[in-house]
Amino acid sequence: MEPRFPELFLSAKKAVAYSQVKPDEKVVVFTDSGKNTATVDAFFTAAAGTGADVVLVKMQTRDRPLREPPAAAVQAMAAADVVFDLATHPWLYTQATNTILNSGTRMLQVFVDDDTLVKRPPEDFIARRERAARAILERCETFRITSPYGTDILMERGDRPVHTQGGFVDHPGDWDSLGVNLAAFAPPENKANGKLALYGTMYLPPQHIFITEEPIMTVVEEGRITHVEANHREARIFDEWLRRWDDPNSYVIAHTGFGIDHRAELHPPDPGAWESYMAGVNIAFGGNNIPQLAGKTVCQSHMDCVLLGVDLEINGQKIIERGSFVSGLGLD
Ligand SMILES: [Fe+2]
Repeated sequence: MEPRFPELFLSAKKAVAYSQVKPDEKVVVFTDSGKNTATVDAFFTAAAGTGADVVLVKMQTRDRPLREPPAAAVQAMAAADVVFDLATHPWLYTQATNTILNSGTRMLQVFVDDDTLVKRPPEDFIARRERAARAILERCETFRITSPYGTDILMERGDRPVHTQGGFVDHPGDWDSLGVNLAAFAPPENKANGKLALYGTMYLPPQHIFITEEPIMTVVEEGRITHVEANHREARIFDEWLRRWDDPNSYVIAHTGFGIDHRAELHPPDPGAWESYMAGVNIAFGGNNIPQLAGKTVCQSHMDCVLLGVDLEINGQKIIERGSFVSGLGLD
């Protein structure tokens, strides 16, 4: 037996169960030559255990992210009811994803490392918080973040959809990523104004990933960062990273929302765990033109920050206080 197969199998079984895979469904486990075979076997066995008809599709590992799978693989995935995507590199933002989801296939990305897969599979408490977060954000008109470090920013949701993730896929066309448990939306591009003190996790791909030691002070006007106070080392890193793209859209608000997984930790650095971090408030700038967010910004860059220790009010009601969910909302 491969090392860790039993642990990986137990997590895969949960992902399969929460995804409600049924005996009469067609399942594709999609992977590549770079993936740990124990993980692949875990998903194949878990899916087969439901009585579903399971097919393994394996390609040669692509050399970088965002390259489309081979056409034959895309055809097989579009013909399936459920896909477990175990590719080494993410390919979410490609036309292939749209082709597959638009055919009614539901697809679960399994991009996290094996430790995270074992540690943070879908559970009832995540599913419950995901439903609660969705209900709260679907009523959201105004989203205001404040903090002792000087953040006071007001955003609107407008007519933008709410996107939530709990690590499973349970309806046709659904997309989710195991271990990335959050709620988010893309504020209309001109509907964010205020001061934003970036104090928390910073993911500036591909070069920089760090937790700030002091706040990076910025100003956001009409949905754009109009000023970065480049007064310390981390602030200069951020300022230079933004400038390097030479694209005005690098400064445009992309999404905001919050994490719902108390099992996610800040160390070691892991963007998926950070965005899942319980009551951490995500705020991102750059490209956001994916169907789940219905954003309009096309951009080469996308940065993610998770603000720690902030207050969040939705429609004037306190949701997060000093980095913890207020009780009684179904989020704690
Ligand atoms: Fe993001």
